[in-house]
Order: sequence, then C-alpha cells, then structure tokens
Amino acid sequence: MAPYYAKISGWGMYVPENVLTNHDLEKMMDTSDEWIVTRTGIRERRIISEGETTVSMSVEASKRALAQAGIQPEDLDLIILATSTPDYLVPPASSMIQDQLGAQCGAFTLVAGCSGFVYSLATAAQFIQTGAYKHILVIGAEVISKGIDWEDRNTAVLFGDGAGAVVVSRTTRPGGLLSMKLGSDGSGWDALLLPGIGIKNYPSHEIIDRKDHKLKMKGRPVFKFATRVMSDATTEVVTQAGLTMDDIDVLIPHQANQRIIDLALRRLGFPAEKTVVNLDRYGNTSAASIPLALVEAMEEGRIKEHDKVVMIAFGAGLTYAAVVWEFQPWEIGPEDEEEAILVTNWPVDNVFQRKMQEMRLAAWKMKVQARTKASEASMAIMLPLYSFRKGLKKRINGDKKAK
Ligand code: UT7
Repeated sequence: MAPYYAKISGWGMYVPENVLTNHDLEKMMDTSDEWIVTRTGIRERRIISEGETTVSMSVEASKRALAQAGIQPEDLDLIILATSTPDYLVPPASSMIQDQLGAQCGAFTLVAGCSGFVYSLATAAQFIQTGAYKHILVIGAEVISKGIDWEDRNTAVLFGDGAGAVVVSRTTRPGGLLSMKLGSDGSGWDALLLPGIGIKNYPSHEIIDRKDHKLKMKGRPVFKFATRVMSDATTEVVTQAGLTMDDIDVLIPHQANQRIIDLALRRLGFPAEKTVVNLDRYGNTSAASIPLALVEAMEEGRIKEHDKVVMIAFGAGLTYAAVVWEFQPWEIGPEDEEEAILVTNWPVDNVFQRKMQEMRLAAWKMKVQARTKASEASMAIMLPLYSFRKGLKKRINGDKKAK
C-alpha cells in the first residue's frame, strides 16, 4: 500500500463586515494612526456585529472550504477548531460547529493561543497519514474584540476578529506536511493572559471591577520571544525537510506585527515579496491569522501546485509552531479516491486480514448479544420464581408464628 499524504483540498474564510480603522481608535483612546502604523503595520481590523460569534464565523468559513473541496459535511471524519475565544467555556465550540454544519463526526477544540491553527494542521496530518481519516476540517477562529479593554491602548489597537478554514484530505500523491515543530515555553505564561475567565479566577464583581476579564499583555517580552522563535523554528523545519530557504516559495507568518515579520525575514535572508502579509487589513486575529493569510494567498493565486510553504506562528502560552507544507495538484485524481481504512482496523492494512478482523469482531459482537439475551431471558424466568419463593417462605414463617 502506498503511503498516505495530507492534502489541503479546500479553503474558505469569513471576516465581519464591521471595519474599525486606526482613525476610529484615535477617537476612542490616546493613540494615533501614525503610532499604530509605524509600530505595528496595522491600519484597520474587523470587529463582530451583534449575533456574530466564533461559532457563526467558523460555520461560514467552513461552508466555503467544504464547497471548495467539493465535499459534503457528511464526508468529514473529524473537525478540529483552534481558538482561545470559544462561545462558551463548556460545551466545546467544535461540537456546536459540527452540529450546525450537519456533520456526523468527532470534533474537538485545540487551545494553543495564536499557534493553534498550525498545531491543528500538524495534528490533522497525523490522522490522515496513518490512513485513519479521509477528510478533516481544520478551523482557526477568534473573537478577540470581546476580551479587549477598549481603554487599554497597549492591546486595543492590535487585535481583530475572523475565521479561516481548510479541508485536509488524504491522497497518495506525495507532499503535504514535510516537517513540523510544535513548541511551548510556559515560563512566559503570564505575558499574554486573560486572568479572570477560567477556573482559577472565576468571574465575580471584583474580577470585573479590576477588568481581569479583559486581555493583559506584556508587549516587549512577547516581541522578543516572537522574533527569536520566528527565525529559529523556521530554520529548524526547513532543515528538517531537507531544504534551504531558497527552496521555499511562500512564507506565511503569524500576522501580529510588521516589525516582527521584517526582523525575522532579515534574519532568514528571505524576500518580502514571497511573504504573505494582510495584518494591515485585519490586525492580529490570533488563531485565525494564518488561515486568513493562507486563504487570501490561495484566492490570489500566490500559491501554486508543488509550492513549498512555511507557516510559522507564536502566541499565548507562550507557544510556537511551524510547518513546511508542499501543495499537491488541485484537481482530484484516482490518488485522492482510495477507500478509507477504518481507524478501528488500523494498522491492519492487508485486505484479507482486515476482513478476518471484521468477521472476528462481528462474531464477538454476536456472542455478546447472545449472552445478553440469554441472561435477560433467564432473569425473566427466575425473577418471578424467586419472588414467588420469597412470598411462600414469608407465608410459612407467618403461619408458624401464629401457631
Ligand atoms: O499574537 C501575539 C500577540 N502579541 C504580540 O505580538 C505583541 C508583540 N509586541 C508588540 O508587537 C509590541 O511590543 C507592541 C506593538 C505591543 C508595542 O510596541 P513597542 O515598540 O514595544 O512599544 P512599547 O510598549 O515599548 O511602548 C512605547 C511607547 C510607550 O510610551 P513611553 O513610555 O515611551 O512614553 C507606550 O506607552 O508607546 C506608547 N504606546 C502607545 N502610544 C500610542 C503604547 N501603545 C500605544 C498606542 N498608541 N496604542
């Protein structure tokens, strides 16, 4: 059997219509368009309107990705949602998305800050490469605006809302995930923190008075961390894939700050023309940032068949994640159509063994069902007999006592 590879077969995005520009922010706090543009590169961001949530945006982005892949929600084997801003702490937003799409598969939410989408993409590829699953929906979605203190200029100018989704499908055409680096440096856990929503500090009047239900960030340490891991992790995955930066066709960095991207590009010796940047229009959308940039790059035709693309993210945790991804030809061929091997049968990949396994399983199931039926039947006979005997004993004992 040929090895399996993960292929990005569909992509879609959704951003709210509501645009918040730097000039709008000038009217809300002590800041300026000049400061924001020179220090971050951001000019405007999208903010949700009434009724829009992480789930609603994810569903829209996912529908577009599914249509692009030419598959139905029922074809999905798994949904992975990367977010730090779910609609509720419980239940997982991923299950709400699964329901609203009409999919009948497993779903889970992966929390890894702004690195969540790259973590999720690498995770999806593992399920595909083992042969366990055929189509996985990977979403990065975030509503950061709800967690923003609109009086804190340190954070308010940076973030935006949005959702991007891709379908990762199984193929025997080589490519997909060539290498990955998933990193975490938890010593910086409090550099990017929402202290008042969670189990340690459950929402209370004091939490709200202290504005601890809003995002706090130590910008400088995150900046330092980001510039280091951007160049280190990219070098590591490119080397791991047996490539050099010259072999990389497109770089998709986390859209946090133009200065962080410029510094990393200088260190890597990589041209800005091959780098995807849309932070000027969307700001930092956390886990949605890479999928939004990826989807726009695909729609603009910037990524071509056989291109090798680096995606590199960093964020709360502090986490970071990088992959080298080779894009296979778009059109669907026989290589993309092979029958799925059920995860229960994996790694039994031989057809005969698989059939034997299925028969053994069916026989075992029948045996269990037969045993259950037999014990139910014996209980149905024995229970009245038992009660009758118990009643008889009682009556005899009562008669004896009366005598
Ligand atoms: O996904 C990961 C999310 N986080 C990040 O990526 C954040 C990484 N860090 C950064 O991007 C940068 O550190 C910031 C953009 C957040 C800040 O840029 P900086 O060059 O590190 O500025 P700073 O914090 O050192 O502040 C410089 C000055 C300060 O004034 P003083 O003390 O020099 O008088 C700030 O009070 O800029 C002031 N300042 C602002 N001024 C106008 C900070 N924010 C603003 C603002 N408008 N919005």
